[in-house]
Amino acid sequence: MGDRKISVGLCGFGIVGQGVYDHLTRKRKLLGEQLGADIRVARVAVRDKSKKRDVEIDPSLITEDSLSVATDLEIDVVCELMGGTGLALEIVTRALVAGKIVVTANKALLCDHGKELLATAQEHGGHLLFEASVGGGIPVIKAIREGLIINDFSRIDGILNGTCNYILTRMANEGLSYQEILGEAKLLGYAEADESLDVDGIDAAHKAVVLAYLAYGKWTDLEEVRLDGITRVNQEDIRFAEDNGYAVKLIAFVERERQSKALYVSVLPVLVPKSSSLGSVDGVFNAISIHGDVVGETVYIGRGAGRHATSSAVISDIVDAVKLLIFGGPEGRFPFLDPAPKNGSELEIARPEEVHSRYYVRMRVDNRPGVMAEIASILASREVSLASVTQKEVGEDAERVSLIITTHMTTEKAIKETVNDLGNLDSVQGSPMTMPIRNFGEKSEDAWLES
Ligand SMILES: NC(=O)c1ccc[n+]([C@@H]2O[C@H](COP(=O)([O-])OP(=O)(O)OC[C@H]3O[C@@H](n4cnc5c(N)ncnc54)[C@H](OP(=O)(O)O)[C@@H]3O)[C@@H](O)[C@H]2O)c1
Repeated sequence: MGDRKISVGLCGFGIVGQGVYDHLTRKRKLLGEQLGADIRVARVAVRDKSKKRDVEIDPSLITEDSLSVATDLEIDVVCELMGGTGLALEIVTRALVAGKIVVTANKALLCDHGKELLATAQEHGGHLLFEASVGGGIPVIKAIREGLIINDFSRIDGILNGTCNYILTRMANEGLSYQEILGEAKLLGYAEADESLDVDGIDAAHKAVVLAYLAYGKWTDLEEVRLDGITRVNQEDIRFAEDNGYAVKLIAFVERERQSKALYVSVLPVLVPKSSSLGSVDGVFNAISIHGDVVGETVYIGRGAGRHATSSAVISDIVDAVKLLIFGGPEGRFPFLDPAPKNGSELEIARPEEVHSRYYVRMRVDNRPGVMAEIASILASREVSLASVTQKEVGEDAERVSLIITTHMTTEKAIKETVNDLGNLDSVQGSPMTMPIRNFGEKSEDAWLES
């Protein structure tokens, strides 16, 4: 082991924190030999010291005063592994102001405060590293920042939430309802007690915001992300997808509109071809497909969460931090190129009339003559062209029936207005369920995306 001693402080010792401690401790000797430095977890902050832990640790290392860890002069690298945007923000800010290297897995914090935190890091000669914030164990942030550095990105598509992918996969494989699978997912620990961050798409949106920053240098507000979760997806959607060669996936899109170059960030349930890079990624796995102008498409698949996968990513940042401390002089201390200049001035967010897609619309309608004509008339008035109409045969007595339509390419604006008009019809019950259809690789689709 080398002479240099590096002290790491862990703020948070839950699922991720304990994994980081466990793997760092196990590999301490090997890493020491490789890096020429001895990495030691010197202090650990928790909320409740009396809680029983899964890994063995010297109790004298543990404190309930996380701020003291963040500002401890003896600590070189601070890992914020608590979550939330309150105390976590204070800890990260204080550590950065103290010129420390900070590692975080906290996508919510980055989404809300990434811009100011990176500025604080730069101002005080510190660093903020966040590999584990997107894609868990998948080293996608390093891929974008380092491996793909020469590329301009036309789009990044990702399955970024393992809980949603697990639920959708089981709905498809077992024919069970969303509610049935969610209940089981909670019991198995795949879903939180409060599932809304996952199933409403918010967790994936936090990650999409981080990816959009890395690709285009712009921090998008969460309100600017087109957001919908999976709670309305039902077996009719899943069966339609299967019958037509698609899968329903919760997909984050980060892309630029071809003409205006405006940025579009969304997290939506989407019909994607089963044969596409993301269409066949099942269960708790995450996947990210990145389109670069030099390299073409590269795809990254792996475990997007969990103790071990997430620790793997956190530790890669700790090792980068150690390399910075050992090899980086004052000039060498900013290792990553700022993504903003690649994209010129501040990017605009794409307006609904600039966003093009095909769409799937499912609605429950009255089973009587004339309904189809009313629907067709609304589509015509919004200049939305029908690609298909599907209605299962029902008896004459049935009061209502499910009707599924798909459209040719149209705009987000037109489909929103159409769905709104449809929802206002007396013959349509409730609000129609809509999903984009993405036929990756089809000419009409790529024409507006790829430059
Ligand atoms: N879990 C994953 O698979 C995963 C994957 C990617 C990213 N992340 C991110 O990693 C972070 C940590 O997630 P996690 O799953 O490890 O969370 P967790 O299991 O809930 O652990 C949180 C830890 O923070 C400590 N803590 C919370 N509030 C505190 C306070 N006020 N003062 C001191 N300590 C406090 C807790 O202390 P006690 O133990 O005493 O309660 C606990 O040790 C989050 O930002 C999460 O989004 C998690």
